[in-house]
Amino acid sequence: MTRSTALLAALLALATMAGAAETDAVVQAWPARKPVRDAALEAKVEAALKNLTLRQKIGQMTQPEIRAITPEQVREYAIGTILNGGGGWPGQDRAATPAQWRELSEKFQAAALQATPGIPLIWGTDAVHGHNNVRGATLFPHNIALGATRDADLVRDIGRATARAIRASGLHWAFSPTLAVVQDVRWGRTYESFGVDPALVKRLGQASVEGLQDGMKEGRGVLATAKHYVGDGGTRRGIDQGVTQASPADLANVHGAGYLGALDAGVLTVMTSFSSWTDSAGYVEHGKMHGNAVLMTGVLKDRLAFDGLIVSDWDGVGQVPGCTPEDCPAAINAGIDVVMVPFKWKDFFNNTVRAVEQGKIPMARIDDAVRRILRVKFSIGMQTPVPATVEAMQAPELARRAVRESLVLLKNKPGLLPLKGTARVLVVGAAADSLAHQSGGWSVTWQGRDTSNVDYPQGTSLLAALRQRLGAAQVTFDADGSKSDPKNFDAVVAVLAETPYAEGEGDARITENLRFSRRHPKDAEVLQRVAGRGKPVVTLLYSGRPLYVNDLANKSDAFIAAWQPGTEGAGLVDVLVEPTAGKAWPGFTGRLSFPWPAGPCQFSSHEARSWWPVGGGLSGKETQANTKALPEPADPAPICPL
Ligand code: BGC
Ligand code: BGC
Repeated sequence: MTRSTALLAALLALATMAGAAETDAVVQAWPARKPVRDAALEAKVEAALKNLTLRQKIGQMTQPEIRAITPEQVREYAIGTILNGGGGWPGQDRAATPAQWRELSEKFQAAALQATPGIPLIWGTDAVHGHNNVRGATLFPHNIALGATRDADLVRDIGRATARAIRASGLHWAFSPTLAVVQDVRWGRTYESFGVDPALVKRLGQASVEGLQDGMKEGRGVLATAKHYVGDGGTRRGIDQGVTQASPADLANVHGAGYLGALDAGVLTVMTSFSSWTDSAGYVEHGKMHGNAVLMTGVLKDRLAFDGLIVSDWDGVGQVPGCTPEDCPAAINAGIDVVMVPFKWKDFFNNTVRAVEQGKIPMARIDDAVRRILRVKFSIGMQTPVPATVEAMQAPELARRAVRESLVLLKNKPGLLPLKGTARVLVVGAAADSLAHQSGGWSVTWQGRDTSNVDYPQGTSLLAALRQRLGAAQVTFDADGSKSDPKNFDAVVAVLAETPYAEGEGDARITENLRFSRRHPKDAEVLQRVAGRGKPVVTLLYSGRPLYVNDLANKSDAFIAAWQPGTEGAGLVDVLVEPTAGKAWPGFTGRLSFPWPAGPCQFSSHEARSWWPVGGGLSGKETQANTKALPEPADPAPICPL
C-alpha cells in the first residue's frame, strides 16, 4: 500500500465513522412508519419480475420524453414510463385534441404490452394546476392561491378534476403536488408552494394526493407525485436548484412535513429535488439530493416505509458529481428507481446495462427498483371510463370557486366593493385581457409565455367576465389608460401582472429587489394615469409571489392579490361585483399563506416587519378605512443587502 492510498483508506474510515453518526441523526429526525403490504399484489410483482431480462429491467427504469421516442422504440427497449415535458404535445401540435393525446397514448401502450405482456406503460405529465399542457383543459389557480383558501376539500376536488382531465387524454400520472415550504420568495417557483406553514403544506398536500389518486383502480384517478424531495423550497437566497441549509430536524419537520401528509394519503411516487442539502447543525455538506442515499433510501424508503417509486427530475442525475445525465450509477445506487432522461435515454439505457454487468450497480438494487415500478403499475387501473373529450377536461365552476376563495384583499376603502351591478367601469392594464398572464407558468407551454388567448379557447379573461356580468356597453377597456377619462366612469379596475415564468428566478433577476414597479414600469405608469382622477381605483395584481407594492397600493383605493387565477376570470368578478339579486356577496375569504412585504428587500418568509403577516387579509366588509398611506422609501439600489 502506498502512502497516499493508506492515507485515503484512513480518511475513508474516518469519514464512515463520522458518517454513521450523521446518518443516524438524519434518519432519527423522521418518524418511523410501518409498511403496509398487500400479499396478492406482492406475489404478482414477484411473478412479473422473474420473467424480465436485465435489458427489460433497465427499460422499465428509463423515462424518455415523447418528443424523443417512438412507440416502436418503446417496444424495442421495453420502456416502462414516458413523460411529456412542459410544452410537449403529440406531434408537437399545441392544439392536439384529447382524442389525439389518447391515440398516441394507446400506440405507446400497445407497443409496451408487446415488449412486456401484462406490464403496462405509464405516462407522466406536469399537471400542476389542472391538466395544463392540453388545450381546452380548465386551468386552476396555482398552489400559492390554493394556500390562501386554506380549503382542503377544494384542493381534493381539484385533484379529482385534474385526474379526470388526465385520464381523458389517456395519461396516468401527475407530477404534482409540489410540497415546497418556501423560505425566500425570490425563488421563481414560490407560486408552486401552498405556503410557509409546514402544517398547511401537509394538509393541502395530503388533500391533493387524495384527490388525484381517488378512484385510481377504476381508471378515474391517477398517480400523484410528492415533489421535490426534499428541501426544494429552502435554498439559500431562493436560488433555484441551490443549497438548502437546515438542521436534520428542520429538514424533517419543516421541509419534510408535506411528505408525511402525502404518505398518509398513499402517494405512490416521489420526485427528487434538484437542490442540495447542507446539514447546518452538523456542518456536513450532503450535496445533491439526486445522490443522497441517506435521504432517499435510509429515510424515505426504510424509515418512512415508502414502497412506491422515486423518479429523478429532468436530467437531474447529471448534477451528481462524476455523472452525466446519461450515465449515473451513483444516483441509482442512492435510491432513484426511474430516471427521467428526456432526450439521451438510449445512451442512458446502454450505459446502465453495462454498469450492472460491470458490477457498478448491484442486481439487488435493480430488482428493488423494478419491484417498486411494478407495484405502482399494478396499483392503478389502465382502462378508463372517462371519455376523450374536451368537456371531460373541464371543471369551470370548481375553478371559479377556487378563484373566488383565493383572492386576498390587502387594502380597501369601505363601501367601494362590491361594485354595483349597474356600474360603468374603465378597465386598464393589458393583462386584464391576457389569459397567459392570468395563468402564469406551466400553462400550455413550460414558461406559459409565447401564448395568446387563442391558446385558451376554454378561458374567460377578467375583461370578458366583467363584460358578461355588467354588459359590454358598461365596460371600456383601455390597455394603457391613455385614451379614457376616469371621470366618465363609476370606478376603474386596473390589472398589473408579472410576466409568466415557470422556474429559475421568475421574471426578476435574483439580485434585484422585489419592487414591482422597477420591473414593470409600464404597468406602474398605467396606474399613475388613472389614479387621483376623482374615481375609485380597484387594483388587481397577478403574481406568483408577494411583491413590494407600497407605491402602487398608495395609488389604489382597493388592492387585491389575485395570484395567477387561471382560466376562470368569472371567479374574480364574483367578488368584485355584487351578486345578482337574492344572493349574498361572499366578500374576500382568502388569507395570505406568506407574509406580504412592506419593503423591497423583504424576501424572507419569516419577515417580521411585513405589511401583512401570514393569515393577513381583509374581508371587504370592514367599516373601518384601511387606506393609510404606506411608506415609500426612495428606490433602493437594485441589489439588496445579503
Ligand atoms: C421540474 C419538475 C418537472 C419536470 C418535468 C423539471 O424541470 O423541476 O417539476 O416535473 O421538469 O417537466
Ligand atoms: C421542458 C420542461 C422541463 C424543462 C427542464 C423544458 O424543455 O419542457 O418540462 O421542466 O425543460 O429544463
